[in-house]
Amino acid sequence: MALRLLRSIVVSLLVTSAVVIAVPTQTSGAALLDPQVAIPLAQRDASAGLYSRESNAERLRRGLGPKAPTRRSPNALRPRQSPSPPTPGVITATVQGALPGFVAVEHPTVPHYNLTSAFDRATRFVADTSSSPFEIIATSGGIDAFPTTGFIKGFASSSADLTTGSSNYAWFGGVTPTPPGSRPVAQPSSWSVVYGTNEPVESFVWTIGAGNLLTPQWINTDGSLAPLTLVFTSRYNSVLITGDFDKFVAEYGADAGEARHVTFTWTPL
Ligand SMILES: *[C@@H]1O[C@H](CO)[C@@H](O)[C@H](O)[C@H]1NC(C)=O
Repeated sequence: MALRLLRSIVVSLLVTSAVVIAVPTQTSGAALLDPQVAIPLAQRDASAGLYSRESNAERLRRGLGPKAPTRRSPNALRPRQSPSPPTPGVITATVQGALPGFVAVEHPTVPHYNLTSAFDRATRFVADTSSSPFEIIATSGGIDAFPTTGFIKGFASSSADLTTGSSNYAWFGGVTPTPPGSRPVAQPSSWSVVYGTNEPVESFVWTIGAGNLLTPQWINTDGSLAPLTLVFTSRYNSVLITGDFDKFVAEYGADAGEARHVTFTWTPL
């Protein structure tokens, strides 16, 4: 994992000023990443591209309602234990071969974390980065119903275990918090509305390293920690983790659109 992450960081650093990079064809697998019930593909704004924003005029032309006004309410902050005060920040996301962007909520009605190039749209978070692992909690512009971020077992994953040799994945989203050190717990999350089921989640999923690089962690059902890759899927404009990038692409490549390595960096405000 370290190698993979390192490689993607190096690649990102090398190409931050150029969007052109050789990325292997990633359309082999045709399995679907989610049941596509609540958000039909047609409404997914899939044509919006990596980071592009739609104006309300464009949305109306496409028969969609206007975008919800940006919320900036601070009332979502509810850290449950904090050895030192959580500090505010945004998450900078660098997709392999693209310019850095930010984690934000771009969908007006069914909130999910997407990526945007606009800093002023970035979700504001707080985190106590002195503990490890730690939670990252949205304070504004996030997913109001689930301010605590975490990962949510993918609907098509055969289990909540992310391992080398498995295409299983878990979405980055808003979750009902779990205790530190917890194995996956099936409880409500921002993907429950899409899936119609409460898939297993974890919230103490972040560690921080040199350059404020955020590394995700996920405890499997047997208590083991798997090496993880953070992946951006262009079709969903969303981020997930998997234990095996190549297997993931082989299984879900076509539905994911372009699947690329992405790095998250904690950017204090
Ligand atoms: C945001 O992410 C959700 C979940 O993947 C996706 O359905 C939606 O189309 C994305 N919205 C935008 C504007 O990219």
